[in-house]
Amino acid sequence: MGKDVIVACDFSSAEATFAFLDKFTGRKPFVKIGMELYYAEGPAIVREIKARGHKIFLDLKLHDIPNTVKKALRNLDVDITNLHAAGTTAMMKAALEGLTREDGTRPLLIAVTQLTSTDQAAMESDLLIHEPIDEVVMHYAETAKNAGLDGVVCSPLEAQKVHDICGKKFLTVTPGVRFADGDIGDQKRVMTPEQAKKIGSDYIVVGRPITAAPDPVAAYERCIKEFVD
Ligand code: C5P
Repeated sequence: MGKDVIVACDFSSAEATFAFLDKFTGRKPFVKIGMELYYAEGPAIVREIKARGHKIFLDLKLHDIPNTVKKALRNLDVDITNLHAAGTTAMMKAALEGLTREDGTRPLLIAVTQLTSTDQAAMESDLLIHEPIDEVVMHYAETAKNAGLDGVVCSPLEAQKVHDICGKKFLTVTPGVRFADGDIGDQKRVMTPEQAKKIGSDYIVVGRPITAAPDPVAAYERCIKEFVD
C-alpha cells in the first residue's frame, strides 16, 4: 500500500458512480466513497464497488462513544477507513479492535485532525481550543499515532510536518490536489500531484480534476504519471 491516487467518487447515486467507473477498462482506480454516496445507497455500494475489484477508502469520519464505533466497524471489508481524532484515544483504540478480523488483518485506519473548514476563530469560539491550529493538527496526529492508527488525512502542505513528527511510515492522505493548468474550484490551498509526491504524501485524494474532466481516464492516468510513476 502507499503511493496511489484515490479517486473521490462524490456522486449522488450508484448509477452515476458505475457510469463513471465503467469508463476505466484498464487499471482499476482506488475509490473513495464518502457520505454523499454512502447515505444515498447504503452499504451495498461498498460491496458492489469492492466486487468490481477496486480498493476502497470508506470516508465516513466516525465520531461516537468507543463501544458504538467498535461495533460499527466489525467485518468492514474496505482497504482504508477513518474517524475523528477528536473522539479521543479510547475511541481510536476501540475502532482498531472492531476493525481487526479473526486472522489479525484489518483495513488501514486514519484520523481526521481539524477539518480544513475549521479555522482558528471557529476553533476558539465553538470548541474553546486556544492553541494555534497547526499545533492542534500536529497534536491530534501524534495522538492518533500513539493510539496505534496508521496515518491522518491532511493538507498536502501539512504532510511533511506530519512525517517529521510522526515518522515516515505514518501515512499522509492528502486531498486538495489540482493540476498546474486546472481550476482550483472551492479548494483554498492546493498542490499538484507532482508537488504532493515531492513533499512525501503517501496517497492523494482527487475528485473533480478527474470526475469532471472531459476525459476522466486520461486525467486519472495523468495523476498516476505525476504522482506514482
Ligand atoms: O473534488 P476534490 O478534488 O476537491 O475532492 C476532494 C475530496 O476530498 C472530496 O471528497 C472532499 O470531501 C475530500 N476532502 C477535502 N478536504 C478535506 C477532507 C476531505 O477536500 N480536508
